[in-house]
Amino acid sequence: MEKSEIYQKVQKAERSRGCFTYRRTSDYIKNGMTLLVVIGIIFTTKTANAQYSQPSDDPQKIDLTLLRGASEIGAVCLDGSAPAFHFSRGFGSGADNWLVHLEGGGLCNTMKSCSERKQSPIGSSKFMEKMGFGGILSSNSSKNPEFYNWNKIKVRYCDGAFFSGTRTGEYEYNTTGQLFFRGQLIWDAVMVELMELGIYNAKQAFLTGCSAGGLATLIHCDSFAELFTPGKVNVKCLSDAGFFIDEKDISGGRTIRSFFHGVVKFQGMVASLNKACVSELKPFTGSLSQCLFPQNFVKNIKAPVFLVNPSYDALQIENVLLPPSAYDYWAKCTKDIAQCSPSQLYKLHAFRDSMLKVLRQYKGKKNIGMFIDSCFAHCQTDSDKWHLHSPRINNKTIAEAVGDWYFNRKRVHYINNCRYPCNPTCSNKVWE
Ligand SMILES: *[C@@H]1O[C@H](CO)[C@@H](O)[C@H](O)[C@H]1NC(C)=O
Ligand SMILES: *[C@@H]1O[C@H](CO)[C@@H](O)[C@H](O)[C@H]1NC(C)=O
Ligand SMILES: *[C@@H]1O[C@H](CO)[C@@H](O)[C@H](O)[C@H]1NC(C)=O
Repeated sequence: MEKSEIYQKVQKAERSRGCFTYRRTSDYIKNGMTLLVVIGIIFTTKTANAQYSQPSDDPQKIDLTLLRGASEIGAVCLDGSAPAFHFSRGFGSGADNWLVHLEGGGLCNTMKSCSERKQSPIGSSKFMEKMGFGGILSSNSSKNPEFYNWNKIKVRYCDGAFFSGTRTGEYEYNTTGQLFFRGQLIWDAVMVELMELGIYNAKQAFLTGCSAGGLATLIHCDSFAELFTPGKVNVKCLSDAGFFIDEKDISGGRTIRSFFHGVVKFQGMVASLNKACVSELKPFTGSLSQCLFPQNFVKNIKAPVFLVNPSYDALQIENVLLPPSAYDYWAKCTKDIAQCSPSQLYKLHAFRDSMLKVLRQYKGKKNIGMFIDSCFAHCQTDSDKWHLHSPRINNKTIAEAVGDWYFNRKRVHYINNCRYPCNPTCSNKVWE
C-alpha cells in the first residue's frame, strides 16, 4: 500500500469523527508543512528504530519503540517527549491478526496534576522502559489460548486524557518547563505507524485496553474500525475495567462527574468524543463531558464491543463511590474487600446494583458482549486473571468468553447474578 493511501485512510477516519479540519489546520500551519509531508516524516524517521522484538513468553520484556517522527506533527507526551509503544510480531496462524492494547493510568485535569505526571512514565517516554507482555498480550498459549500468536502492540499512555486531548498550544507551569495536551494526535500518529507496520493487511483486528485504556478503547473503537475495509476484516473492541459509571459518591456528591468534566474541559476533549452523543447533548450546555461516560455512548459505537468489568471494581470504588474526604475512613476496605465493615459492604453492593442497572440497557444487543463478575478487582485482561487464574462465569474464563464472542462462536452476556463473595473463582486480591 502506498503512503498516500495510508494517509487517506487515516484522514477518512479522522473526518468521520468530524474534528479533522479544526484540529489539524492549526497544527500544520504552526509547523509550516502540509499534512502529507508531515506523515512522510513519520515514515522516514522511524526506520532507524525498527528492530522489533520476537515473540516471547511473559518474563521476557518487549522493547520500547519511540515514535520519533510523531513529534514533528505535534504528537507528544505531556512533557514534549515522543510517544511510544511495544511491538511483538505475530507468528504461525496469527501472522495476519493484530491486537492493539491501550495502556491505562488515570487522568490529569489541572496544570499541577499534569505537571506531576510529566515526571513519570505516564507523562513522559523519558521514564518508560521495556515491558513484560501478560494476559491478552502473552505469547504463551496456555496463558492466552486465543490470541497468543497474534501481532501485539501495547501503546503507552502519556497524555493523561485517554488519547483524546486536542489543545494545540504549549503551556508553562511554574518552573517545570512546557506542557502539552496532544492525546488525539498521539492516537493519530500511532494509527499511521500501525499502518506502516502492516496492520492494513490484517484479517482480524482487535482494539483492547484496561482502565483509562479501556475507556480510550471505547472512545476510539470506531475510528480504529474505519482503518479497515468494511466487511472484509473482523474488527472488534474490548474494554476492560473502562466502564466508569456516572454514580453519586456516598455523600451524595458528583465526584466522578466533576473529575470527568474537568479533564474534558482542561484537555479539550469534546472534539474526540462520540459524535452522536455530543450532538444529542448539544442543547444542554456544559453537559458534553457526559459523553465521556460509556453508559451514554456505548450504544452509538458501530463496531462490536465487549465489556469486561468486575462489579466491585476496586478503582471505581475509590474514585467514583468515595469523595476524597472519605479516603481515610475507607482506606482498609478500598485495599482489601475482606476488611470492609458490614455497612461499607452494603454500600459496595449498592454500587454493584447501580452498575448492573446501567448495563441492563445492553440486554438483547447482539453487538455487545459482557463478562461482569462479582469480584473485587480492577484490570483482569492484562495478567493471569485473563485465563490461568481467571474468575469463571458459566465455567468459562474471561479469555474463553472473549474468544467465543470474538470468533462468533456464541453470544456472551455473562453476568454474575449474585453478590460478593459468591464466586469462589474470584481471587479478590488485595489492591495496591
Ligand atoms: C512546580 O510544580 C511541580 C508539580 O506540581 C512541583 O513538583 C514543583 O515543586 C513546583 N516547583 C516550584 C518551583 O514551585
Ligand atoms: C507457558 O505457561 C505455562 C503456565 O505458566 C508454563 O508452565 C510454561 O512453561 C510456559 N511456556 C513457555 C514456553 O514458557
Ligand atoms: C469447567 O471447565 C473445565 C475446563 O475448562 C472442565 O474441566 C470442568 O469439567 C468444567 N466443570 C463443569 C462443572 O462443567
